[in-house]
Amino acid sequence: MALRWRSSFSCNIKEIDNQHKRLFEISSKLNILAPISSKIDFKDEIVEVINELKEYAIYHFDYEEKMMQKFNFEDFEKHRLQHNAFVKRVLELEQEHLKFNRSQTVISIIDFLTGWITAHILKTDMKYKDFFNDIGIY
Ligand SMILES: [Fe+2]
Ligand SMILES: [Fe+2]
Repeated sequence: MALRWRSSFSCNIKEIDNQHKRLFEISSKLNILAPISSKIDFKDEIVEVINELKEYAIYHFDYEEKMMQKFNFEDFEKHRLQHNAFVKRVLELEQEHLKFNRSQTVISIIDFLTGWITAHILKTDMKYKDFFNDIGIY
């Protein structure tokens, strides 16, 4: 499943939306590599994209967490635990891929990444939308 940013993903905070769009852009690179990875060895490229996504996710999560903490958003701790679990899983996937390098691994990585990012934005990030908008942060 390719991730395409739609207005339903908007948290109505410009910088956050831009960062989410960037996450979608990076993960879409995997969708291009996945169908051809079984025929040609794209191990280095795939590992590179997973790493890029991991690094950018860490940057983005840190940005969100600092904002939530600064304004005492009540669900901060729960939200932060979700971020941590994602980074841990991406690290594991990276290791698994380095070991096995099968197209199946790539597909399961894409499924996990796209599923998690989509669900997290729609269910968890959305919880701070009104909170921040109400205090004038857009
Ligand atoms: Fe987010
Ligand atoms: Fe988040």
